[in-house]
Amino acid sequence: MSGSSIASVITNGTVITGAGRENADVFISDGKIAAIASPGVIPVPEGAREIDASGCWVLPGMIDVHVHLREPGYVHKEDITTCTQAAAAGGVTTVFGMPNLNPVTKSRAILDDLFELYDTKSLVDWNHNPVPSELDEVLAMADAGIAAYKIYMVVDTGRDYPHPSGTGIHDNGHLLRMFEAINPTGLPFMVHPHDQAIMDVIEQSHWDRGDRSPKAYAETLATHNGLIWDTAIATLLRMSEATDTKLHIVHMQTAGSIEMVRQAKKRGVKVSCEVNHWALFLSTWNDVEELGPYALSYWVPDNHREAIWEGLNDGTIDMVSSDHAPHTREEKEVGWEDCWACHTGTPGIQDQYALLLDCAIDGKLSLERVAQVVAESPATEFRLGNKGFLRPGFDADIMIFDPLDTTKYSNETVLSRCGWTPYDGRSSKGTIVRTMVRGADVFDNGAVVGVPGWGQLARPTPFR
Ligand code: DOR
Ligand code: ZN
Repeated sequence: MSGSSIASVITNGTVITGAGRENADVFISDGKIAAIASPGVIPVPEGAREIDASGCWVLPGMIDVHVHLREPGYVHKEDITTCTQAAAAGGVTTVFGMPNLNPVTKSRAILDDLFELYDTKSLVDWNHNPVPSELDEVLAMADAGIAAYKIYMVVDTGRDYPHPSGTGIHDNGHLLRMFEAINPTGLPFMVHPHDQAIMDVIEQSHWDRGDRSPKAYAETLATHNGLIWDTAIATLLRMSEATDTKLHIVHMQTAGSIEMVRQAKKRGVKVSCEVNHWALFLSTWNDVEELGPYALSYWVPDNHREAIWEGLNDGTIDMVSSDHAPHTREEKEVGWEDCWACHTGTPGIQDQYALLLDCAIDGKLSLERVAQVVAESPATEFRLGNKGFLRPGFDADIMIFDPLDTTKYSNETVLSRCGWTPYDGRSSKGTIVRTMVRGADVFDNGAVVGVPGWGQLARPTPFR
């Protein structure tokens, strides 16, 4: 470590990684962690900036692999800059965007244009998951530096968003062809599991009674103890196994599918999976009743939420991500009458990390496990070689958390363009005081200080 090049030192904090916690100073040079040493053992070099983290936790910045940034096409909901401002405030240092945009991200040419947008507009590091439905575009998109592909097994009825034409499929033959096309790239195939044929018949029975309410919507998706999810996930696991292609399942939410993934991992199936903020902190029946369309995403019955916490603790669920899904209030309000016309999904990128740490303070999972599920596992599963770990040589993507302060969630402080949070009125223990991306502050003591364009492509290490 050459002292003269040290730009910043975070002193006296408790450094938390998946391997343990220790009081230590973190030395940052050229955007990377240069050293981690017991407090005071290595003097703070002259000219270096000292960040006093006494009493605070020093954690890895979150790698959020499931974010709807809405640009291009839906910038009335969000854009890359507003979304990554919210990310910075939420301790998120890398985002993966999703392809349900206009144009749908389905070709190398569209992807190249989008990369240029991120390059000028993102405050934090980024990547983007295109759809692999145009099979002859699959390899060229891998060459651009993507970390994964994404498809939805959903075909919306009665609305044209959030699953615009070209993002959803309802055809297992085509799905199989996508797995096969992705296989040579070695990249994961991220899939939103869903069985549209079952959804169609269940929703019809509610509609026949004239009921299109949020409760009917919630009950439809949760029908038969998670059948819509479980049948889709069984199919996906089998296709992943058949093609030997890495699968990443988004928004795990049923006990049955968690058990299927647990068994598949034991058999050696190449699968990882995530849970999203709403399944952990929202989506109770009470939330469905009180917040209606603002709570949906989905309803997660309590027995399933218990299985989620168990799966998160035992390693079956690899990571937490936001599925940050901003929509305007107007797009939500229609849902009280007709939830099938409302754009589903909830924002969460600003709130999820602090909410997760609140649960860690309550003992629902260890701090070490938090470091794994927000950063180490996503970096490993998506092969982001230089990210995710607080270790010398890795990018200095860091979040500093004061466990004794309080976070108050309010629509007033939402940075996302949508202007609301489903957590409005709640509070949690501890607060995020600083977020750093490659050694530079993007959030400091209540203010976003990062600049659009600072973010870089988080490129995976090549498979071959
Ligand atoms: O509820 C959802 N919202 N599910 C999705 O698959 C997409 C997301 C969105 O983009 O709003
Ligand atoms: Zn999503």
